[in-house]
Amino acid sequence: MKRDTSKGPKPFLKWVGGKTQLLPELEARLPDDFARTVRVYAEPFVGGGALLFHLLSKGLRPERIVINDSNPDLANAWRVVQRHADALVEALARFETDYRGLPDESAKRSFYLGVRCSFNAGTSRPESEDVARAAELFFLNRTCFNGLYRVNAKGLFNVPFGKYANPTICDEETIRVASLALEGVEILSRDFADAVADAAPDWFVYFDPPYRPLSATSSFCDYTQGGFDDDEQRRLASLCRSLDAKGARWLLSNSDPKGTNPDDTFFDELYAGFEIRGVRASRMLNANPEKRGKLGELLISNYQTGDAT
Ligand SMILES: C[S@@+](CC[C@H](N)C(=O)[O-])C[C@H]1O[C@@H](n2cnc3c(N)ncnc32)[C@H](O)[C@@H]1O
Repeated sequence: MKRDTSKGPKPFLKWVGGKTQLLPELEARLPDDFARTVRVYAEPFVGGGALLFHLLSKGLRPERIVINDSNPDLANAWRVVQRHADALVEALARFETDYRGLPDESAKRSFYLGVRCSFNAGTSRPESEDVARAAELFFLNRTCFNGLYRVNAKGLFNVPFGKYANPTICDEETIRVASLALEGVEILSRDFADAVADAAPDWFVYFDPPYRPLSATSSFCDYTQGGFDDDEQRRLASLCRSLDAKGARWLLSNSDPKGTNPDDTFFDELYAGFEIRGVRASRMLNANPEKRGKLGELLISNYQTGDAT
């Protein structure tokens, strides 16, 4: 197959909270001396890895790269892309042929529900390299409603069928380019704090935790069982303070609660003493297109960033 590696690596899964829209803002706020001084890059909430791939495509490749996500199925998918790209492409090509050959929407829906059922019957361990399971996750991601990943209280994937007639299920080029780019990257599936336990002054950590919901009804933290509540946000802030004390640098993104409630000082208090900036970015979470739009995001860092806003 012809590989166009001139196109840089990019996320291979659609992931809620993906940072593609925010990349220019994130890039502008990286430490000025990143290429010269950062030896270890860590992303403890990697999700789809938009910033990681952006850095790699720009040739910013520190000596050691550590990525982590507590979702073991997502970590499994990253590991399978890294180490078993051939087998994954083969399994996805089979899915694509089978799915596209189905006569109508009803047959496609049944096929989707069958794969979802099989996915829910299995599990990934934090260190899994399970190609069949990764292929199911890719298939579901490409054919479910809006590419969402959502689980119920029992941890079962429950996103409905997406009604796409001819979705691309096997994006071979994206997988192969990502696989090459991920050579040597450490892929973990632990709690965020464990992923940066040995941080030192030559580390740069990008934290993109599940967003704090902007209102009681917009809760969108159920990427994994257990959610990410205000106590988790506090635990993360205290980890940031301890990394700061160790001399490691970090950048963190979150939702800006001031967009909906100007009196909400939650993050100002948690991150008092650090640089807190508001930026605008598109957020495509709402199922109702009327309600999608530009929402405020916060970028917080323990170092001075370039431009003042
Ligand atoms: C906002 S998403 C990251 C989006 C990512 N930056 C991107 O561009 O796609 C947050 C991720 O944190 C993970 N997560 C939730 N709780 C966690 C925890 N305690 N430790 C590590 N990861 C966690 C979720 O599984 C989810 O993938």
